[in-house]
Amino acid sequence: MKKIMIVFGTRPEAIKMCPVVLEMKSRSEFDVKVCVTGQHREMLEQVLEAFNVKPDYDLAIMKKSQTLFDVTANILRSIQEVFEKEKPDIVLVHGDTTTAFVAGLAAFYLKIPVGHVEAGLRTHNLYSPFPEEFNRQAIGLFAAYNFSPTEAAKTNLLSEGKNPDRIWVTGNTSIDALKTTVRDDYSNPLIDWVGDRHLVVLTAHRRENCGEPLKQMLRAIRRVADEYSDIAIIFPAHPNPVVQETAKDILSDAENVKIIQPLDVIDFHNIVAHSYMVLTDSGGIQEEAPALGKPVLVMRDTTERPEGVAAGTLRLVGTEEENIYNAFVELLNNEAVYSEMSHASNPYGDGFASRRIADALAVE
Ligand code: UD1
Ligand code: UDP
Repeated sequence: MKKIMIVFGTRPEAIKMCPVVLEMKSRSEFDVKVCVTGQHREMLEQVLEAFNVKPDYDLAIMKKSQTLFDVTANILRSIQEVFEKEKPDIVLVHGDTTTAFVAGLAAFYLKIPVGHVEAGLRTHNLYSPFPEEFNRQAIGLFAAYNFSPTEAAKTNLLSEGKNPDRIWVTGNTSIDALKTTVRDDYSNPLIDWVGDRHLVVLTAHRRENCGEPLKQMLRAIRRVADEYSDIAIIFPAHPNPVVQETAKDILSDAENVKIIQPLDVIDFHNIVAHSYMVLTDSGGIQEEAPALGKPVLVMRDTTERPEGVAAGTLRLVGTEEENIYNAFVELLNNEAVYSEMSHASNPYGDGFASRRIADALAVE
């Protein structure tokens, strides 16, 4: 039996790795161990509960306003012991967080082969998103198994000289997760609060946006909220103190904006499914919204998810107030633009990515 150690630590990794955990645990070929770093705390718990995944190890490293130094050093120090004790045959990490990079680095130091789920996403700009572009490129240097969500991601790896025999195109496990969460009969008091207004979902958290870019984003949104009483904005704000304070300063007294705690993944997916549109700087939401047919204004200068832009659902609007304001107003006023962007289209797979990952690891 192969011993597979699956490591994750933040909300988006958990959402995309829990389907892999559940698939691999259902197979007799694998002895699966789950190690969470606890880079996130409440937001990680919400996902573990939703998928009923119980970690074997929790490094519990999160502290308030943690720096990249804190996260990197604390994971590296504490994960060594877990890997040395369990001696896994393969360590699986996901995407581009500091958890993924450091867990992969620790496995590399111990000469344990690393499998990289969601491999090959690139902006080719190490500072955007920061530090995620570095993290995923670095994991690509030592990954023995690359599980790419799309052909475009595979092409990125090939252009860096990776061995094609070590790349599997699987689809994105976010679609596996989405298939289990969205329900036709979903109800929630938040949706009652929206009533017959257009529901706009807002999220913002990127490290490089905290500061002036976040203020510009939220000011643009505040202007639109004040001008359009027929919209209702729900903002599940990231617990990062900078996000919380900026949200409170700029949006808290707007009648048609609700700043709330992060939603659990089942509520979040269903609320997006009920929405008119989304504004975000998130990565994962750029994969989910096309599948749900919801236009997304991506408040970033770059994206590693060009498939959603090509599908017509995502539009990159940058982080300047005037540009965000104009794009937001256009989507509210121009029906042709709205209907162009709101066709459901899913370039990220059929919801069986976890099965393909398990199949590949079973024979390797
Ligand atoms: C991290 C990832 C980012 C990912 C994001 C998803 C890195 C460097 N960044 O960024 O790639 O897009 O997660 O959300 O790996 N906090 C809590 N409770 C929680 C989570 C966070 O209070 O459950 C607060 C803490 O004060 C913490 C701060 O948020 O110090 C920042 O968390 P951190 O994981 O360092 O950065 P994120 O911006 O969440
Ligand atoms: N999400 C959630 N609750 C929320 C906001 C987002 O469950 O209140 C989910 C969302 O569906 C997506 C993931 O969290 O799957 C995205 O996480 P985040 O934006 O924190 O990180 P990123 O994808 O940018 O790395």
